[in-house]
Amino acid sequence: MPINPETLDQAAKRLRGARRLVVFTGAGVSAESGIPTFRDDNGFWQRFPPEQFARWDGLIKTAVVHPDQLAEFLQAVLEPIAVAWPNAAHAAIARLEQHCKATVITQNVDGLHQAAGSKQVREVHGSFFRVVSLRGQPIRSLQREELVAVSESLRRTRSGMFRLARLLWSLRPMFGLSWRGFKRPGVVLFGGAMAEPDWSQAQRDAQLCDAILVVGTSGLIYPAAMLPGLARQHGASVISIDPYEPGPSHVWLRGRAGEVVPQLVQAAFG
Ligand code: APR
Repeated sequence: MPINPETLDQAAKRLRGARRLVVFTGAGVSAESGIPTFRDDNGFWQRFPPEQFARWDGLIKTAVVHPDQLAEFLQAVLEPIAVAWPNAAHAAIARLEQHCKATVITQNVDGLHQAAGSKQVREVHGSFFRVVSLRGQPIRSLQREELVAVSESLRRTRSGMFRLARLLWSLRPMFGLSWRGFKRPGVVLFGGAMAEPDWSQAQRDAQLCDAILVVGTSGLIYPAAMLPGLARQHGASVISIDPYEPGPSHVWLRGRAGEVVPQLVQAAFG
């Protein structure tokens, strides 16, 4: 889908003029890295009901009653993340730090912005590469190889005897007892508290920025979805990149992140 040159030029001018830039991303920025989004066709929540799989109480109940369904869900979530690589959008976003004070605020839990080289990343929904205590205190980081091993082990626990016990054994790097009591993946589920200090910093970044580039989010899930509007209220330019959703933007570049973000960064900074 070719971008209108005038629209691209408008967006590039707004980006070039930014002293403090926020890049706010959702699942769409990682779609071309092979990680499904949540609400598109064949998205996670189309295949796994969020009331059962996006809440801790639903996950625990599923673990006890249908451990094979939980193993299928966790494998579907972890496997694409474990093997994903940053795409051209992540790389272009990382390059922005060479041209201005750029902070990434992401709703994603896949670690791909850091893997692409972005240094200032706020993971407001946490990350599967973080292991935390029950109350969210950091315990350790998970290496990508460990996530690969967990997703491969999950594949083997979806059938046969003692599935719950084998499921828990597969998840032991990120789930179960640790020296600091119970440990769990450092991700934020529905109804859970946002990841701190990332969330408090993200709100400050949105209020102080003079431009926010919104990439690949449906803007449906609060409180994260309030950030573009908060930035706009404080006078920031809002540029959005998405094949279907313009969001509350001044300029909408309609298209896939992997194609559009590099063109925008090139048009803005050469
Ligand atoms: N490039 C850019 N955008 C894309 C692409 C792509 N290749 N493919 C899809 N999109 C867009 C879709 O048009 C949609 O606007 O990405 C967005 C994906 O929306 P969601 O699936 O709702 O994902 P997201 O907005 O990140 O969800 C927010 O909801 O379930 C919770 O915690 C979860 O962080 C997630 C939050």
